Amino acid sequence: MMKSALAVMGCVAVLGLAMIWTPAKAQGNSEARSLVQNRCTVCHNLTRVRNYIGKNDQKAWYDYVSRMQKNGARVTDTEKQIIVDYLTSLKSGKDL
Ligand code: HEC
Repeated sequence: MMKSALAVMGCVAVLGLAMIWTPAKAQGNSEARSLVQNRCTVCHNLTRVRNYIGKNDQKAWYDYVSRMQKNGARVTDTEKQIIVDYLTSLKSGKDL
């Protein structure tokens, strides 16, 4: 009796964690996506960015976004890291 109650509680805990974790991840992505959509469209459209998705590795994206900061993009270093990780994680320009 005690054992099955514990098992039920264990399941509830696991489900609860899964529910907390999933939206947090999705939210992280949508934050990154809106950063790109807001900050990277000031001077050019996203076609320029899309051209390099799936081609640039993390270091290449870091260098690009650093260059955009020199071009005048208003991106903090923390935001740069989020943008770089997001762009690196995409498989194709359609995902952007
Ligand atoms: C202040 C204006 C400005 C903003 C904001 C900006 N860019 Fe650019 N971007 C430029 C200019 C100017 C060029 C062309 C000159 C160059 O390549 O540096 C360019 C070119 C590019 C290219 C093509 C480079 C190549 O070699 O063909 C990519 C990729 C790019 N930008 C990505 C981004 C990303 C990602 C962001 C958002 C973090 C961003 N840009 C925000 C000004 C900007």
